[in-house]
Amino acid sequence: MASWTKEVVHAYKIARNFLGPSFSAYQFIDLGCGKGKACLVWRLQCMKDKVKQDVLGVDYYPPFIDIARENSKKIFGDSGHFLMAGAETINYQGFDKPLIIYLYNPFDAVILAKTLDKLLELPVLVIYNIPSHRTTLIHYGYQLLYVKQGHNQNEDTQIFVSPRMQTKHLKSVV
Ligand SMILES: C[S@@+](CC[C@H](N)C(=O)[O-])C[C@H]1O[C@@H](n2cnc3c(N)ncnc32)[C@H](O)[C@@H]1O
Repeated sequence: MASWTKEVVHAYKIARNFLGPSFSAYQFIDLGCGKGKACLVWRLQCMKDKVKQDVLGVDYYPPFIDIARENSKKIFGDSGHFLMAGAETINYQGFDKPLIIYLYNPFDAVILAKTLDKLLELPVLVIYNIPSHRTTLIHYGYQLLYVKQGHNQNEDTQIFVSPRMQTKHLKSVV
């Protein structure tokens, strides 16, 4: 299972529009990146628009990380940035950047909550494709910015911003 290309491209455009000139300052992270598709599509869009943005894929399953790196080599000639880790274990403060977190419904509400604990106090824009556990984000004070629904669940995307982003970043955007 992987994100649909057109859904990633659409989310990229919405995020870019929301964030305006600050878009390239954000670190993109696909949590549960699998074989890397969303990262590769996102990076291609950045290249197309001549936007320099760090793109990272995270997955806890080592064979997927290896495949993602190989897929990146085929497209870009380099292995890209892929990290083997559990999403709920990462020190997100260490990126020292605002974050765009991409989720293709990778885990249950418990892991999502543990991940959101690690993201507390950080400016985060969450793109949630197949948003099965959206209420967890609401519970953590995230604000819904955008909803898209289609006939297939792969066309259902919601975009949220963290409480920190609402106060610190968003006012200059909307
Ligand atoms: C549906 S696949 C990934 C699809 C990819 N994000 C995309 O959009 O094309 C979901 C992935 O989440 C990974 N995953 C599940 N729980 C995880 C966790 N706690 N930390 C990191 N990766 C996780 C799985 O190994 C799996 O590769």
